[in-house]
Formats: sequence, C-alpha cells, structure tokens
Amino acid sequence: MNGNIGETADNREVLLNVRGLKKYFPIRGDQRKSVVKAVDDVSFHIRRGETFGLVGESGCGKSTTGRSIVRLHDVTEGSIEFGGVDVARMSERQLKPFRQRMQAIFQDPYSSLNPGMNVLQIISEPMEIHRFGSRTEIRERTLDFLERVGLKAAHAERYPHEFSGGQRQRIGIARALSVNPEFILCDEPLSALDVSVQAQVVNMLEDFQAEFGLTYLFIAHDLSMVRHISDRIGVMYKGRLVEVAPSEELYRNPAHPYTRALLAAIPVPDPKVRQGMPPIYSESEECGEREEWIEIAPEHFVSARRDRI
Ligand SMILES: Nc1ncnc2c1ncn2[C@@H]1O[C@H](COP(=O)(O)OP(=O)(O)OP(=O)(O)O)[C@@H](O)[C@H]1O
Ligand SMILES: [Mg+2]
Repeated sequence: MNGNIGETADNREVLLNVRGLKKYFPIRGDQRKSVVKAVDDVSFHIRRGETFGLVGESGCGKSTTGRSIVRLHDVTEGSIEFGGVDVARMSERQLKPFRQRMQAIFQDPYSSLNPGMNVLQIISEPMEIHRFGSRTEIRERTLDFLERVGLKAAHAERYPHEFSGGQRQRIGIARALSVNPEFILCDEPLSALDVSVQAQVVNMLEDFQAEFGLTYLFIAHDLSMVRHISDRIGVMYKGRLVEVAPSEELYRNPAHPYTRALLAAIPVPDPKVRQGMPPIYSESEECGEREEWIEIAPEHFVSARRDRI
C-alpha cells in the first residue's frame, strides 16, 4: 500500500484507534508490588487498508502493544477502538466477533502452530470456531487457502515439523486469512526467515492486502524491514512511542535521537559495532514529564520538549 500517502491516506476510515494504552505486568514475588511498564501511554491510529510499522529494540514493548490490541492481553488502561467500538475492556464473550475480524501471525510459526495438529486441522480450526459453514465447506476453503499461500493439497495431512520455516509461516498466514479478517497483527513474521524467503512472504502479504483490503500492524526490530511495506511507522522506546511519521518522511527527516540511532544501525548488524551508536539523550530529560507530542510536519509527530524543537 505504498506510494499513495498524502493523497488518499487522510480520507480513509480509521479502523483502529489506540488511545493512552498502558500494559503493566506485575513483577512476580515482589513484596512492594512493583510493575514492568511494558507499554506506557501509547496512542496511534491505523486507517483501513494501511500498513503501520512498529519498530524499536528488543523489550521496548512492541509485542505487548500488538498483543494488547488483539486482546491476547488484558489492558491496564486506555482505549482500543476497532471500527468505532472500544474493545479494551470487553469480556471474552463480547470479543468473539472481534476475534474473527482481528487476526495475528507471529515470528515463530512453529511455536504458534499446534504441533499435534495437521495442516488441515490447523487452518480449519478458526473457521470452525467462527462457524464458517459445513465440514465440507470448511475443508474446501482450507484447500483453497493452502493453494493461495503456495502450498499443495497434498500438504494438508502433514504436521508442522515436516515443513520449512517459510512454509510454516505460509500455514500461519492461511490460518489467519481463512476467517476473512479486516486487521492482521504481524509480529515479526519475517525475523526467523532466510532473506530470500522474507521477500516471498512480504510479497504474499502485500498481495493479500490488496486483494482483501487488509489493514496491518507490522512489528519489526529494525527500520529496514518495515520501510517498504509501511505507509507510516511508529518508533517505540522503553514502552513509549517517540516518533510517528509516513515511512519515507521518517527516513528523510528522523527527528528523535532514538530514531536516528535506529537508522544509523541499519547497515551495521554486528551488535559490537552497534554499541557505537549515537547516545540517546539522558532519560531524565527525554522520557520525562516535560515532553509533548509535537507535529513537526504533516503527519510527522515526535515526542520532544517544545523548547528544543
Ligand atoms: N507476559 C509477561 N509478563 C511479564 N513481563 C512481560 C510479559 N511480556 C512482556 N513482558 C515484559 O515487557 C517488556 C516488553 O516486552 P515485549 O515483548 O513487548 O517487547 P518487544 O519490543 O516485543 O521485544 P522483542 O523485540 O524482543 O520481541 C519487557 O520488559 C518484557 O520482559
Ligand atoms: Mg516482540
């Protein structure tokens, strides 16, 4: 969905609107009842048909944000409007129709696919839960989706361990797509794959997006992975969003020092070399109370002190 930022993006309906999202995890066995503030006051929106990339270093809260949105976590605070309805505090019963509309694919399809089920069972399961027709209809739809993701009907009786990483990710995609979702959380779906396979999976996700009008929240460690598929990108740092901008704008004019550091790290995969990245400015200043969310260019927001801009 690249290349149409500005012209049409503004007119598209906001499908997902996240406001003040907080997810705190209690630290087990801690007498003082301290918490890990995994996500701390995060707000952003995603328009229908858009791909929103979410990047940041390990442990900054990307997965917790994604998993809270699709309600794999209970939420500590904030609202998550999906199609205009707040799902943040819904009960499991109320969530059921939303569980069909919001799907997820994960980094490690091996741990997210039940190893005791064959491919037919894995892909059929969500369709059975959401009553997508008779056994025969579901079986036909499963075989159809197997083919759509580039696998064969002959694969239907096999088990996850009989497939390569890329093939397993295709099975996960077929499973997610089978129930006609509107939104898919893609939590590092490429990170465990070989580079050549990554490109195939990206192309497939883009084709399905165009065909079904899908909306993606696409999580990755580094900016190079989301640059081309994202319309807009959010940069997370220690549980907070520090910058959001249209993809190319973020590359041309990164404003937050942490975004700059991430960009500088792109060609340097060696973690020892990465230690030479520009330092983030001191936490007391930059993660402090005095920061505001400032629009420095159309749709380009950065968390900063107004007197520093
Ligand atoms: N279920 C949980 N219980 C307690 N703490 C958790 C839980 N899940 C995540 N955390 C903590 O919340 C913080 C954010 O974790 P999260 O997995 O969201 O980060 P991430 O950005 O997805 O990292 P990565 O890039 O490694 O996947 C971390 O400090 C993590 O240890
Ligand atoms: Mg993660």
